[in-house]
Amino acid sequence: MLIRREQTKDERAIAAVHGEAFAAADGPGAAEARLVDLLRAGGTLVPALSLVAQVDGEVGAGIVGHVAVSRAELGGRPSLGLGPLGVLPRWQRRGVGSALMHAVLAAADALDATELVLLGDPQPY
Ligand SMILES: CC(C)(COP(=O)(O)OP(=O)(O)OC[C@H]1O[C@@H](n2cnc3c(N)ncnc32)[C@H](O)[C@@H]1OP(=O)(O)O)[C@@H](O)C(=O)NCCC(=O)NCCS
Repeated sequence: MLIRREQTKDERAIAAVHGEAFAAADGPGAAEARLVDLLRAGGTLVPALSLVAQVDGEVGAGIVGHVAVSRAELGGRPSLGLGPLGVLPRWQRRGVGSALMHAVLAAADALDATELVLLGDPQPY
């Protein structure tokens, strides 16, 4: 499994990952399925911190998980928001989500980020 930055060619596969992950968790029509596209279109997604998990031999693009980080403001100062994090249901409980979280925290640290605010349900994190 490779954890790397998302690229333009991954956008459809990323939307499919969140669509499947959140439909399985929250039911069809979950808002998070479209959230990444909205953040990207709004220009707030941080490309260096929006990562995919890619598996060789998996159907299609091989994208099985994704974590998004976007620029935010907290108390009038710049901050970063982490979420959504999604893994294809058939790939869950195999360490993909943990790998994405470790990678994104290390990448944020390497960029001298001082704050990364978790957006969403804290339980899986
Ligand atoms: C949450 C999610 C990303 C975890 O991905 P994953 O690849 O299954 O996670 P891992 O296999 O790395 O599991 C790591 C730990 O996360 C926790 N975890 C995983 N899924 C969980 C869930 N649905 N609820 C609570 N805890 C969960 C467990 O503690 C697990 O450790 P364990 O294997 O010892 O039980 C995945 O279940 C998912 O896409 N869920 C739907 C979307 C979602 O809820 N995203 C998070 C909020 S934005």
